[in-house]
Amino acid sequence: MTFNVNGKNYTVSVSNPDMPLLWVLRDLIGLTGTKYGCGIEVCGACTVLIDGQREHSCVFDASSAVGKKIVTIEGLGAGGLHPAQQAWVDEQVPQCGYCQPGMLMTVAGAINDGHRGKEIASECKNLCVCGTYPRIKKALSNL
Ligand code: FES
Ligand code: FES
Repeated sequence: MTFNVNGKNYTVSVSNPDMPLLWVLRDLIGLTGTKYGCGIEVCGACTVLIDGQREHSCVFDASSAVGKKIVTIEGLGAGGLHPAQQAWVDEQVPQCGYCQPGMLMTVAGAINDGHRGKEIASECKNLCVCGTYPRIKKALSNL
């Protein structure tokens, strides 16, 4: 199967068309910025953009991503820091960092959907074990 990820095509051998896209990204393509947390669409650590929309790659069938434009955290700032990344830097949001790629992709997707400021906060239900929520809230108020 061929996947377009961050503007580049990757052709990989996928043994099962139902394989979650997350496995393709991490294990077959080697883009490990997208994280595995819960595997059941609760934590948001695995969030990527598919044709600009937020999707949980832990439950998104690989075959359904073929022919679509996938963006991962590795590609989010390709043309210069995304406004969410800049806000994250300004507020020094991350602690351990594990949840942060998913957070940023969720925020980027919410912005794509036309949400701003407090609205983004209500769209972002991702979990952070380190409890960086106060800094996330501050960063979102800049968007
Ligand atoms: S790993 Fe996908 S939502 Fe938690
Ligand atoms: S920064 Fe550690 S889990 Fe969120």
